[in-house]
Amino acid sequence: EEFDQLDLNSKNKLFQGDVPQVFHTLNAEQFDRELLDRLYSLTNIIRSISKTKNGATYLANRLRDKRAMLYFAQASTRTYLSFKTACDIMGINCTDVRDTSTSSEVKGESFSDTIRTFSSYFDFVIMRHPEESHAEKAAWVVNSSDRPVPILNAGSGKDQHPTQALLDMYTLRRSFEKNGGMDGKTIMMAGDLNRGRTVRSLSKLLCLFPGVKIIFSAPAGFGMRDDVLQFLDKENVKYIVTEEFVPHLSKADAVYMTRIQDEHDKNDGTTSKRSYDDFSLKFEHLSLLKPFCAILHPLPRRDELDPKIDNDPRAKYWRQERNGMWTRAALIAMTGGAEPQIQNYWRDL
Ligand code: CP
Repeated sequence: EEFDQLDLNSKNKLFQGDVPQVFHTLNAEQFDRELLDRLYSLTNIIRSISKTKNGATYLANRLRDKRAMLYFAQASTRTYLSFKTACDIMGINCTDVRDTSTSSEVKGESFSDTIRTFSSYFDFVIMRHPEESHAEKAAWVVNSSDRPVPILNAGSGKDQHPTQALLDMYTLRRSFEKNGGMDGKTIMMAGDLNRGRTVRSLSKLLCLFPGVKIIFSAPAGFGMRDDVLQFLDKENVKYIVTEEFVPHLSKADAVYMTRIQDEHDKNDGTTSKRSYDDFSLKFEHLSLLKPFCAILHPLPRRDELDPKIDNDPRAKYWRQERNGMWTRAALIAMTGGAEPQIQNYWRDL
């Protein structure tokens, strides 16, 4: 109840921690450019160290005394697996709850008590939840406890997926490394933007790059929500909202496809009955794209992204998926306080 009475600003400030030594990852807007650059520098270093002789062993000894709870109260393949493998890289021991019917929540235990229990046994709580604001609520619970462990939001309802945005941005930056960098690029997002948490978080991170423009391309009724558009207005980011898809493809430096999020349907299946054929990237569209256009998708995909595109050099989504493991390893290393040691090790190599 106390949490629910907090205003949005106070909720957003939670990551800074009532307890300063704890760094939660709750939403995209908590990341500024400096923090992003630090994270990506560490990501590159961890990738490189892991390929050196004894490097994997060095990394796996950094957080060997730590334990992580992977609390996934909603389906996941790659976020779960990439967090799990990221923890493996850093030597963290993982336990999970993926099926909430095995948790005492079915006996009526409150969300707060469940999180408090995790904090009794684990040093990190990595959580995906179908309800919005539950990562912030978890941070509130642990900040008020005697064991304030970091909370990492692995997807919260239709609202945020901050670590996905971190890996998306890392992938975009790498894609544009030899093509002028991120600044001034036009990023097109297409699909069910209304209920897609990845595009909501990524839009907020894009504000950190001067001159970036966004094209929000969605069928009628599935457009980006006003709160994100207002956020972009406040940050002076230019965007267009359109119900057309193909006419915009040639303008984009990156096309970020998303699937229909019909798991959020209210059991009537109405949105899954709609055809998304006119918001699908097909093999024949490749000729419309810029030569260096990066094609991204958070995955999983359905028909909106033609598998025949997979072998095109502009298709970055399988790399994007792998980048998730490295960016999350860096985030965990940073959260667990291992960053200075890793930086020193790299400097001395
Ligand atoms: N991108 C993403 O969140 O995928 P999963 O749902 O498979 O974790």
